[in-house]
Amino acid sequence: MNILVLNGPNLNRLGQREPNIYGSESLEDLEEQLKNYGQKNGFTVNLKQTNWEGQLVDWLHEANDQVDGIVLNPAAWTHYSYAIRDAIASIDTSVIEVHISHVHAREEFRKISVVAPVCVGQISGFGFLGYQMAIDYFLRRQ
Ligand code: DQA
Repeated sequence: MNILVLNGPNLNRLGQREPNIYGSESLEDLEEQLKNYGQKNGFTVNLKQTNWEGQLVDWLHEANDQVDGIVLNPAAWTHYSYAIRDAIASIDTSVIEVHISHVHAREEFRKISVVAPVCVGQISGFGFLGYQMAIDYFLRRQ
């Protein structure tokens, strides 16, 4: 099984960015954890991050039918990007929305997700573990 993990803007600053909210671990730490999890559970995982909206749209298109599942943290785009929403809707591969922080317990604008209706589901508030929880869904739904 092949899993693609996509991360949106400012997530390259994990570990330095608001550690009280997002923790002290970096994106490289996340990648290492997910690769280890993949080795133990027999799947391959590729992780990408971009600060450019069009890049994320392209990656979603390119991943269509090429991977078994996409785990997506759209970061701030979650709350307003119809382009990301439409890109998810345009592909057949299932996408799970993940947030490190508990978006529903924060500012009002974070409670809105324009991508949620076109995702399989949303995982929010479990830190890096949320990515593994999303992958568990893809492993178990087979
Ligand atoms: C986030 C939550 C978003 O509201 C925020 O804009 C992010 C990160 C999270 O993982 O908790 O950049 O997606």
